[in-house]
Amino acid sequence: MKSHAIILCLGYVLLTSAQSSAKKEWTKLILTHHWPQTFCSMEQCTSNFSYWTLHGLWPNTGIECNVSWHFNASLIEDLLPEMKTFWPNLLKPESIVFWKHEWTKHGTCAAKAEALDTQHKYFSKALELYHKLDLDGILKKSNIVPSENYYKLADVEGSISNSYGVTPKIQCVSHTKESEFQTLGQIEICFDRQFQLLDCENSMGELQSRDNEILPYVSNDHPGFSVCDASVPVYYPPLQTPRFL
Ligand SMILES: *[C@@H]1O[C@H](CO)[C@@H](O)[C@H](O)[C@H]1NC(C)=O
Ligand SMILES: *[C@@H]1O[C@H](CO)[C@@H](O)[C@H](O)[C@H]1NC(C)=O
Ligand SMILES: *[C@@H]1O[C@H](CO)[C@@H](O)[C@H](O)[C@H]1NC(C)=O
Repeated sequence: MKSHAIILCLGYVLLTSAQSSAKKEWTKLILTHHWPQTFCSMEQCTSNFSYWTLHGLWPNTGIECNVSWHFNASLIEDLLPEMKTFWPNLLKPESIVFWKHEWTKHGTCAAKAEALDTQHKYFSKALELYHKLDLDGILKKSNIVPSENYYKLADVEGSISNSYGVTPKIQCVSHTKESEFQTLGQIEICFDRQFQLLDCENSMGELQSRDNEILPYVSNDHPGFSVCDASVPVYYPPLQTPRFL
């Protein structure tokens, strides 16, 4: 009986803190880039993008904040050519479902801030931040380019943190203990509500101290990735050239 009471009590605490954190305004925006070659090796697509493309712009709290606020591509008509180039749907290049998903899941929550309270503001801000960061250029400057050779995670992270002055969150395809390498998949750069760069939270300690730990961190957006392991070499896969046999 006693353990039931404890479970009930814990359930109540979890429920109330989830409710209170759901009401809380987000404090951080996470601009997520993914590496098309890695994504396509997991999802069986083919892509000839040889640069980091946008995955999304995610507030740190809230998911699907207003499901009745429907995505409408005609509101961002002027942005579509840029969206197709830098925020492509790697699985279905001609479809708008990826942007629709990002808007419904994350954009409607980001829109609680005045600076992002329309679809046009949200998508154009994401593109603007993406260009400002120029992740490809930053990595290239440190000679971190797609290659058959492996990199040290510290060098990848150092290149980014030295350039931006903040810590990124770098994710790799989940690997087994015995793997000799891990594949670079996703890089997140964080901003505050004024769009100033901010450290992303990396360590478990920081993650556990988050006030919204009940609502899982948005990394479940792609279950195949986890934070890269500093002790395992990093593979940054080059563009796969089609083989004609
Ligand atoms: C990728 O492929 C498409 C269609 O095959 C082509 O139009 C485009 O120019 C290619 N892009 C690059 C960067 O090679
Ligand atoms: C949700 O979005 C709809 C459509 O834009 C809007 O009319 C409504 O006020 C929004 N609801 C909330 C709670 O913001
Ligand atoms: C999408 O937005 C356009 C432009 O504001 C509007 O004319 C159209 O009715 C909207 N479509 C839907 C399905 O809401």
